[in-house]
Amino acid sequence: MRFIGALIVWIIIGIIAYFVVAFTGAYQVGADVPHWGVTKQAIGFLREHTVDKRAADITPPNLDDPALVKLGAEHYSKMCVACHLAPGLDHSDLREGLYPTPPNLTRFAPNPAEAFWIIKHGLKMTAMPAWGKSHGDHEIWAMVAYLQKQPKMSAAEFHALTANAAGMEGQESAPSSAASAPMPPATVVAPPSASSTH
Ligand code: HEC
Repeated sequence: MRFIGALIVWIIIGIIAYFVVAFTGAYQVGADVPHWGVTKQAIGFLREHTVDKRAADITPPNLDDPALVKLGAEHYSKMCVACHLAPGLDHSDLREGLYPTPPNLTRFAPNPAEAFWIIKHGLKMTAMPAWGKSHGDHEIWAMVAYLQKQPKMSAAEFHALTANAAGMEGQESAPSSAASAPMPPATVVAPPSASSTH
């Protein structure tokens, strides 16, 4: 009985503390202020174990199929580069302002089943979208297949694979830029003048 009483008191203290923090503006919600170490560890632990568990039953198809890799590269070039970079690209304005910073997927090949789950469902409270809302499993596996090859890919190989990707995803690029750059569409990356005024 005493335990339940104490529990209720702590819950009430917690609720009051929550509103005090909210109304005084004490908590930093800005993306330019990092989490406390303990918050970061708690989120990381939760994310790792939850994704492990949910991806445990997912079995990847053959990820070496060149047609699948090419399809994945095309989708990746239109939707993911501004956050996760690409061969020959080591910076983007969008990526710089995000918290947590999206991993540089040119540096490592993510575990296929986990990558599939994350791409399909996204990750709450990060900028990682749930692409399963607009894409089928086949396209998502294609991107996973591409991600396995990306760390060893040169910029020239990436260009060659994605040269015909313009116009995919409903984001029409200017014809002149279509075959040239692994840069994300101009609409995604703000020009320096725009980013410095806000
Ligand atoms: C607006 C930014 C943004 C876009 C666009 C985006 N992502 Fe992400 N993505 C993130 C962030 C942020 C994380 C890391 C979240 C975290 O730290 O837990 C992430 C995580 C991931 C991971 C997990 C990597 C790991 O650590 O194992 C994969 C795989 C991934 N994204 C693939 C993609 C693919 C494929 C696309 C395009 C279809 C994409 N992302 C588009 C922001 C983005």
